Amino acid sequence: MFCMSTQNDVDLWIITGAASGIGAAMTHAVTQGGSKVLALDINPDLGQQLAAETGAIFHQCDISDPEAWAKFAGYLDDNKDVLGTPTKIHLNAGVQIAPPNAPMSDYQFQAMTLEGYRRMMGVNVDGVVFGLQTLLPRLQSGAAIVVTASLAGITPYSVDPLYAMSKHAVVGLVRSLGPTLAKRGITIHAFCPGGIDTALIPHQQREKDAIFMRPDHITTEIIGLMDESETGKSWAKVSEHKPRFIVRAPGDKTS
Ligand code: NAI
Repeated sequence: MFCMSTQNDVDLWIITGAASGIGAAMTHAVTQGGSKVLALDINPDLGQQLAAETGAIFHQCDISDPEAWAKFAGYLDDNKDVLGTPTKIHLNAGVQIAPPNAPMSDYQFQAMTLEGYRRMMGVNVDGVVFGLQTLLPRLQSGAAIVVTASLAGITPYSVDPLYAMSKHAVVGLVRSLGPTLAKRGITIHAFCPGGIDTALIPHQQREKDAIFMRPDHITTEIIGLMDESETGKSWAKVSEHKPRFIVRAPGDKTS
């Protein structure tokens, strides 16, 4: 367990979807690097396990629920003297329209259920919006935000069109918020990886020859994005061996 301190030189991270996959790999990587992590996830068992392994402070939080964010905001404010101000925000939690054990046909538009749609939009879109709404007033100049979008946020993804829609939404939000947050000295980026071997991947997509990156293949990239001087950009990461690169919005003339 890390020692709470008021030192300004130790980063305070907030990571959503921290209990599994990319979020868990990030929590391991940044705690090993000496940073403090507030790990948010809906899954209490995996979250507490992660906390025991890494020293992160786990908060059970349904990021699609504004009241859960309000409760977390109260925790941040009440403990500001010992925690300090959050400096690195990784809005990462996400789900696909169907559970991983569902047949691929359940991911298609015509198979949509209202419950599945609301859940996915709640996590992938509302979770980012409510997270930003809660955290932005509590950040200072120098803070950095990375949203885990997806390649499906910048290219078509016919496997799960509604998932692609949700990820395009957050890419649009990040690109559009960039200039406004820059005036406060805060950066924001969308990280858009291809397939990564996590619990999110539909079982039927795990074909014999399918190639996925591992979560630890992208942690350095996400940590690096927190120090990027540009802002409001979408970064693709298509394979373990190719570095991330900016996919610019049409009309984006910044260097
Ligand atoms: P994962 O399923 O391993 O982890 C997602 C985590 O989010 C889980 O711990 C889950 O409990 C948590 N979560 C789900 N609903 C939540 C809620 N309402 N509130 C709080 N936490 C919640 O999946 P993975 O792959 O690590 O996903 C992380 C992000 O990466 C997601 O946004 C996903 O869309 C994105 N992504 C994943 C790719 C992949 O191929 N695995 C590729 C591109 C993007």
